[in-house]
Order: sequence, then C-alpha cells, then structure tokens
Amino acid sequence: MPVLEQVPAEPLALLAHYRPPSPVFVRAGMVMSADGSATSAGSSRPLSGPGDRAVFRALRTLCDVVLVGAGTARTEGYEPVRLPAELREWREQNGLSPAPRLAVVSRSGDVPRSDTEPPLLISPARVLDTVDTDGTEPLSAGHDSVDLAAAVRELRARGLRQVLCEGGPALLGDLVRADLVDEVCFTVSPLLVGSAGGLVGGTLNARVPLRLAHALSCDGSLLLRYAVG
Ligand SMILES: NC(=O)c1ccc[n+]([C@@H]2O[C@H](COP(=O)([O-])OP(=O)(O)OC[C@H]3O[C@@H](n4cnc5c(N)ncnc54)[C@H](OP(=O)(O)O)[C@@H]3O)[C@@H](O)[C@H]2O)c1
Repeated sequence: MPVLEQVPAEPLALLAHYRPPSPVFVRAGMVMSADGSATSAGSSRPLSGPGDRAVFRALRTLCDVVLVGAGTARTEGYEPVRLPAELREWREQNGLSPAPRLAVVSRSGDVPRSDTEPPLLISPARVLDTVDTDGTEPLSAGHDSVDLAAAVRELRARGLRQVLCEGGPALLGDLVRADLVDEVCFTVSPLLVGSAGGLVGGTLNARVPLRLAHALSCDGSLLLRYAVG
C-alpha cells in the first residue's frame, strides 16, 4: 500500500520514487491548487513550492523529451531544458544525454526558438509547409491537425521513448483523449485560488481510472503519482 512519506531532501534519492514505469512511456507532470486549478494569475508558478520543484527536476531527469503545448511554452517562457550538474552527471552515468530535448506541439508554429538547441516543433504538415521553422527541428504529425499518436510514434523513432508532458491542460486533455498517457504525477499545492481551469482540458467521454503509486508530502504539498487505467 502506498504510504505518505516526506520528499527526500537528496535529489538522487528522489529519483528512486519516480523510476520509469516502463522503457517506453508518456507521463504527465503538473501542479494544481488544492481546489483543482492549473493556474493562479495566469501561471502555474504561484502553485509550485520546494517539493514540486524537486519532483519537476526529478521527472525531467528521468525522461528523453519534455513535451509541452505551445500555449505553455509561450506563457511560461520555455527554453532548452537545463538541469543541475548533479542530475546531468546522473543522466550521463545512466547512458542518457546531459538533458532531455524540448518538443512543442503547435497548430500555429508560434513557438520559442533556439539556434543552438532547437526545440522539436510538432505541427501538422500543412503548417510546417508554410511557417518559418528556423530555430526549430520540425516534426510533422498529421496533415491538417496534429495527430498526437503519430507524434509520439515519431518521437520514439528518434530514440525519444520516455516522454514527459508538462502541460498545459489543452495538450494533456488531448493526450488523455487519445489514450496516450501511462502515468500522471500531480502536485497538490496547499492553496485555494478560486475558479480557473483544471489540469485536463476539455471534456472526456468516459472517466479515466487512476491507481495511486505513491503519495509524498513536502511543506503542505502532496506529490501524487498515479498509473493510468
Ligand atoms: N499547472 C500546471 O502544471 C501547468 C502546466 C502547464 C501550463 N500551465 C498553464 O496553463 C496555461 C496554458 O493552458 P493551455 O491549455 O492553453 O496550454 P497548452 O496546451 O500548453 O497550449 C495550448 C496551445 O498549444 C498547442 N496545442 C495544444 N494541444 C494541441 C494539439 N493537440 N494539437 C495542436 N496544437 C496543440 C496550440 O498551440 P498554437 O496556439 O501555437 O496553435 C494551443 O493553442 C498557462 O497559463 C500555463 O501557465 C499550467
């Protein structure tokens, strides 16, 4: 049975709590208020505390690619993923690149760019044919709209088998509806923020059962790990 434990202070010890569920997976890592909101004042940052930040880094350490919607990339100022030296070294000792890639899903192609570490730009072929893709590595998935199953297959074909989705709610909702999510790691922050959207955007045709894998705590936050289905 899962028990409520403290988040270990040692970053490498925390990794053991988030071992990949399988060699190939899609997992989500997000934070919400205690009343279920994904944002406060338009951002997830006010919801995050030390425990959430530690889990955020652990989840990034344990993936090949961080996948986000373009709305999140724009709102939260996403840049190429950086990890502390200790976690970079752990990755290299475990046969991984120093940091995961960043992949951004977009219908518009309006995503942050980088000449040195271009993010994967996951968009429909029709869009990639027309927008400027400089500073990105285009990844075509679907013709008129993004086919997320095809996108995940294409990531895997590039060796990016362990996918961490950091949101936002629109993208997570689409991934859940496409039955692509294996695991969700949600931080419940000890704050009430009033009405705002939840973590999974849009409606679901059926309730999705979750199985609790563990519950950690840190400064009043709950760090919950659930297997999907
Ligand atoms: N609580 C948390 O953990 C957390 C995590 C992440 C974000 N957030 C917050 O959530 C808010 C953003 O929410 P959101 O739901 O709009 O975020 P989002 O999913 O990141 O962004 C929506 C945009 O992403 C692209 N997109 C998402 N799903 C797509 C799909 N299936 N196919 C093609 N494009 C897709 C589209 O980009 P284009 O517009 O470029 O076409 C769409 O307009 C922000 O305030 C952010 O701070 C919270």
